[in-house]
Amino acid sequence: MSNKTTVISEAQLNTQFAFCDRIADLWRIEGRTPTAYVETYGCQQNEADSEKIRGYLTQCGYAIQKEAEGADVVVMNTCAIREHAEQRVFGNLGALTHTKRRHPEQKIFLCGCMAGETKVSDRIKKSYPYVDGVFSTHHLWQFPEILFNVLTRRKRQFYVADEPGSIAEGIPHVRDSELKAWVSIMYGCNNFCTYCIVPYVRGRERSRLPEDILKECRELIESGVRDITLLGQNVNSYGKDLKIGVDFADLLAAIAEIPGEFMIRFMTSHPRDASTKLFDTMAKYPKIAKQLHLPFQSGSSRVLKAMNRHYDRETYLEKVRYAKSVMPDLVLTSDVIVGFPGETEEEFEETISLIQEVHYDSLFTFIFSPRTGTPAASMEDPTPKADKSRRFDKLCTVQNGISEQIHEAYIGRTMRCLVDGKDKDLLTARTEGGRLVRFEGCDSLIGTFQDLTITGCTTWSLTGKMQNA
Ligand code: SAH
Ligand code: SF4
Ligand code: F3S
Repeated sequence: MSNKTTVISEAQLNTQFAFCDRIADLWRIEGRTPTAYVETYGCQQNEADSEKIRGYLTQCGYAIQKEAEGADVVVMNTCAIREHAEQRVFGNLGALTHTKRRHPEQKIFLCGCMAGETKVSDRIKKSYPYVDGVFSTHHLWQFPEILFNVLTRRKRQFYVADEPGSIAEGIPHVRDSELKAWVSIMYGCNNFCTYCIVPYVRGRERSRLPEDILKECRELIESGVRDITLLGQNVNSYGKDLKIGVDFADLLAAIAEIPGEFMIRFMTSHPRDASTKLFDTMAKYPKIAKQLHLPFQSGSSRVLKAMNRHYDRETYLEKVRYAKSVMPDLVLTSDVIVGFPGETEEEFEETISLIQEVHYDSLFTFIFSPRTGTPAASMEDPTPKADKSRRFDKLCTVQNGISEQIHEAYIGRTMRCLVDGKDKDLLTARTEGGRLVRFEGCDSLIGTFQDLTITGCTTWSLTGKMQNA
């Protein structure tokens, strides 16, 4: 298989839009507006893909609804990162037999990362006959064609061929929020961490052109978006494949130069490629949020080597020290895996000491889950489940203590926050570091930046008041 990225041409995309028109015509003859429901699992990458699926569906004439019941089309956009994630999808897929029984013309699709696993598409083929179509992330751009074939040929469609991956510019989006937007800057991953399935299901690393990204950001800002999150599995290697001399820090700086009132953030940063240039760029531009999600996975250098992470404990800590030195208010978050094959009690304690040293705002904690086809799935794993659960609980307890301490330290500080909605009687806002703040105020403040003084906290959120209130 060649490693080359396929760039989907305008003509190819126009063919898909022609399928959208033909689907809309089919429903016009039927004389009613069809409905669709998209269920999203997994990370922001999938959220961003679901916006495109909804974009296509809207272009085909579908009205988007918020539940599977009664929908003419149901799309399950799935995640394969851990066993548990897959079990949930199979469970919910099972439940769809009932909704389909009540609405026999319903068409069900499964896409996303699970659709990139042969074992999953084979299982769907054999045991889930009511699923009408399966397509991997590489084939998302062909969704109108797949839907059209399902509607007209009455034959199940499987678009799951393994590929290095493509880039398609110009697929319409239906975004969830008017204030916040995801912008994918690259797709796929080349890192092959030994536990991870992503490189197998999302293909090779490929970057969008800077001019396409800048155009999208400019349009978003002009349309009123105030918070943009740039997405990629490893944003720090942005641009390497383009070979035009633009790296991630350059891209960030160019976006931060766009006029208007907005914040930019990004995820995820791989520590190996996080450079001092990146931290200096973050520090320089007020429009770049002082927030960094920098997954360390383990505090033990031996485990990190076995994970194929290409950094050790000390280099990770050095990078964090530098980042904090140039951004004293930096909000740090991270991902950790407990119970990687062969992790000893001492190595686990190294993870605990690392979180105590770094003081993360919050952590996403996971117990190692073997994924078929990855090297770690066949590594010797003598640690009993009960020990792994105990380590996991300890990690959560230590981190909750740290998060509480950090939260308490917010009290009395005044912070610039984006007011993003309402929850019961209170307005909700987000700090630059992404923390939720509730406060009293009138609805007209939604969509503006406000200085809020923090008056109280719980483990998960803050309360505040407006400076002049
Ligand atoms: N690209 C990102 C991570 C994407 S997956 C990065 O490299 O930082 C999100 C997180 O899921 C990972 O950071 C890791 O902590 C966790 N994860 C991935 N595979 C896993 C597995 N097999 N078992 C448990 N956790 C896993
Ligand atoms: Fe998975 Fe590692 Fe790639 Fe992140 S960098 S997506 S953990 S292989
Ligand atoms: Fe899951 Fe795929 Fe994201 S496996 S975490 S949805 S890249």
